[in-house]
Amino acid sequence: MKDMSLRKRYVPFPNNRKLVPKRCTIFIIKSFLIAICLVASIYLISNVHLFNKYASSAAGVTNKLAVENISKEEEKTNISHILFGIGGSSKTWNNRSRYSELWWRPNVTRGFVWLDENPQENEPWPETFPPYRVSEDTSTFKYTCWFGDRSAVRIARILKESFEIGLSNVRWFVMGDDDTVFFTENLVTVLAKYDHNQMYYIGGISESVEINVLSSYSQAFGGGGIAISYPLAEELVKILDGCINRYHYLYASDQKIASCVTEIGVSLTKEPGFHQMDIQGSPGGLLAAHPVAPLVSLHHLDVYLLHPLIPSMSRLESVKKVIEAYNKDPSRTMQHSLCYDLKRNWSLSVSWGYSVQLYPWLMNARELEMPMQTFKTWKGSKGPFTFSTQPNNVEPCKRPIEYYLDQVVDLQNDETLTSYSTIAGINKQCENQNYKPALAVHMVNVTTTILPPKVWSQAPRRQCCDVINDEDGIRSNLHIRIRGCNRGEMITPPFYDKYGEFAYFQRFVR
Ligand SMILES: *[C@@H]1O[C@H](CO)[C@@H](O)[C@H](O)[C@H]1NC(C)=O
Ligand SMILES: *[C@@H]1O[C@H](CO)[C@@H](O)[C@H](O)[C@H]1NC(C)=O
Ligand SMILES: *[C@@H]1O[C@H](CO)[C@@H](O)[C@H](O)[C@H]1NC(C)=O
Ligand SMILES: *[C@@H]1O[C@H](CO)[C@@H](O)[C@H](O)[C@H]1NC(C)=O
Ligand SMILES: *[C@@H]1O[C@H](CO)[C@@H](O)[C@H](O)[C@H]1NC(C)=O
Ligand SMILES: *[C@@H]1O[C@H](CO)[C@@H](O)[C@H](O)[C@H]1NC(C)=O
Repeated sequence: MKDMSLRKRYVPFPNNRKLVPKRCTIFIIKSFLIAICLVASIYLISNVHLFNKYASSAAGVTNKLAVENISKEEEKTNISHILFGIGGSSKTWNNRSRYSELWWRPNVTRGFVWLDENPQENEPWPETFPPYRVSEDTSTFKYTCWFGDRSAVRIARILKESFEIGLSNVRWFVMGDDDTVFFTENLVTVLAKYDHNQMYYIGGISESVEINVLSSYSQAFGGGGIAISYPLAEELVKILDGCINRYHYLYASDQKIASCVTEIGVSLTKEPGFHQMDIQGSPGGLLAAHPVAPLVSLHHLDVYLLHPLIPSMSRLESVKKVIEAYNKDPSRTMQHSLCYDLKRNWSLSVSWGYSVQLYPWLMNARELEMPMQTFKTWKGSKGPFTFSTQPNNVEPCKRPIEYYLDQVVDLQNDETLTSYSTIAGINKQCENQNYKPALAVHMVNVTTTILPPKVWSQAPRRQCCDVINDEDGIRSNLHIRIRGCNRGEMITPPFYDKYGEFAYFQRFVR
């Protein structure tokens, strides 16, 4: 049994008159409350200065934040904090300088191209070239790799010679080859994520498994670019010469550097935007499905066995074309977006500033996202690679229709329009009815906003896109709009498309 009397005592508004307190009790309580109020107000008046103090300290916090903001801007890594060291040679420089010129910004980028001897041509040295230095003599170093070239010693020492120049405010040493194209805005975005006061060794591995097996899986490949923070460089230069002699049997300069870094105990920080490009054939499939990361570098673009980026253009002109898009929106360059046109049951894959693929059927995101193997390994085998690939079907009816970057246009409100065109001969004619309307599309226009670099400090997520079926749209022109994905948005085909058997087929063909 519960004690009912106890419960009654706690009824808030008792009806029972016996429980209502007497008048005198009310009076005492009232006086007590008034007294408390008086004491409190006296306390408040005497403490006005305390409030003022509090208010002024709040303003101080704001000022401090503003100062912090400014100093944060100053602290942020920018292009001037990078010292480039480009491995060149006086014989190849004349040709290779065409690639360095594409990204080198006189009076903005700092660094040197390191040559084996004084240049025979180019007198005076053009302002559009990185300034040159002649490397120190390395003939006393040991080099015993019978199939290699001892210039590897000289190239490996670029880091040391660059460091010893002693330039101020250098946070990162970035080494590359004379046929490396750096996308410097994105390089800065990537390096700015890391604390330059710590020892970092950043880059990418080879695309071809066979090359990583020969060299290493934990090495930044020199052609893709090697970024070394100042404190690591400081340690490395102390041991580099001895280390180069100790690893005399290793073929390449990047292997030697990796070995010395290993002695310090620092491991490779892989960044997917560094591209060694150890592949033969067309780079189209690889770069149409770039990972969600800023495009930092492309290498080997002048190698005969690697086809031009854009099939209808020369090697150099096609790089210039991509750079045209990059100049408008560095962060978005080669970023992948996938969407469906549900009015026509089409799947679309966009690599912004590079290419578009139209599949006239619905295909799962898994296959849409995977690079199509339009290339072979560096040594010319079918694979394997250090990333997933899907087959590059030869039958015309199993291939997407491809479009490559044609025009880059500025729109209002920080928007861009990039248009991608078919190239005569590359899209083989498929007789299937489903292909007819797709083959009639000769141009894909893509509009989007400029992607702020700050997205790269967030968790990586592909952007989404929509096919805009303009009512009076021209049938030969497709309009795609790229935008950030919504919460809960997915790339899921709404139904199983019978024609999508091809996508299904592709899963089993390998
Ligand atoms: C500091 O910067 C952030 C964003 O960069 C801004 O939102 C904030 O208002 C700034 N604070 C001050 C006090 O300037
Ligand atoms: C880079 O940052 C430094 C501060 O470390 C600043 O003095 C310089 O003006 C900045 N340069 C550019 C190009 O933003
Ligand atoms: C320079 O490049 C051109 C065109 O790509 C080529 O024909 C020529 O042989 C190259 N010269 C050298 C010295 O490599
Ligand atoms: C680079 O700076 C030098 C010295 O200030 C100047 O003479 C030269 O014109 C500049 N070059 C470019 C391409 O801006
Ligand atoms: C798209 O596919 C669905 C399901 O297979 C089909 O019902 C529809 O007719 C197709 N639409 C077009 C335009 O082919
Ligand atoms: C597509 O873009 C090009 C510019 O590259 C423009 O000339 C053309 O009119 C655009 N087409 C449509 C349908 O907007």
